[in-house]
Amino acid sequence: MVNILKIIGKVFFGFVGICVIAVVFCSWYTRSNTKDYGDNRRVLNITNGNSKEALIVYQPSRGGKTDKVAENLAKGIHDAGYEVTLDNPGKHLKTDLSEYSIVVFGSPVYMGQISPVLTQYMNSVKSLTNAKILLFATGGQLNNGELDTLEQQLGSVKATEKIGFKSGKADETLAYKTGKSFAGK
Ligand SMILES: Cc1cc2nc3c(=O)[nH]c(=O)nc-3n(C[C@H](O)[C@H](O)[C@H](O)COP(=O)(O)O)c2cc1C
Repeated sequence: MVNILKIIGKVFFGFVGICVIAVVFCSWYTRSNTKDYGDNRRVLNITNGNSKEALIVYQPSRGGKTDKVAENLAKGIHDAGYEVTLDNPGKHLKTDLSEYSIVVFGSPVYMGQISPVLTQYMNSVKSLTNAKILLFATGGQLNNGELDTLEQQLGSVKATEKIGFKSGKADETLAYKTGKSFAGK
């Protein structure tokens, strides 16, 4: 009887331990979605000086996937002839985006949620009516709901295109192609 109680105790505390570790891991991993990473501006220049401008604002994900997707989108848009600025959302970013012909917003999805740092920034943005807008999300099993939620942050403005990246390494090639074709439209 004592042995059975000992085994039940070990199983119980083992299970509780695993649950605690899982909760700590999930909350640490997903905290990257609520962090303001500050100014991380990078520009892909065009030397002739007459180029149209594109802006990509994205929330980084813990494992770096969303950076890679954003960087490949940027390369594609740049190769289509645009000067491209990449940055992360936050208070440092200006909200008047009237100078940009293309604006891209992107976020990872954790626990069904897109980044509140990004949505807060999107809510504050003005002068988007003349830009083509691309929205993207990265995740493991995305559905259109996350992209629709992103679009709702723009108020009455509609996205030109929405795309989910959920295929691992192949997403980098897809992002480049998407950026290039989107800019060429
Ligand atoms: C704790 C946790 C929760 C997640 N929740 C979702 C989710 O609800 N929907 C989804 O599509 N992907 C989910 N994912 C997958 C992430 O969205 C995916 O990892 C994302 O593309 C960021 O990639 P990275 O963390 O490897 O950079 C989750 C991943 C983790 C670790």
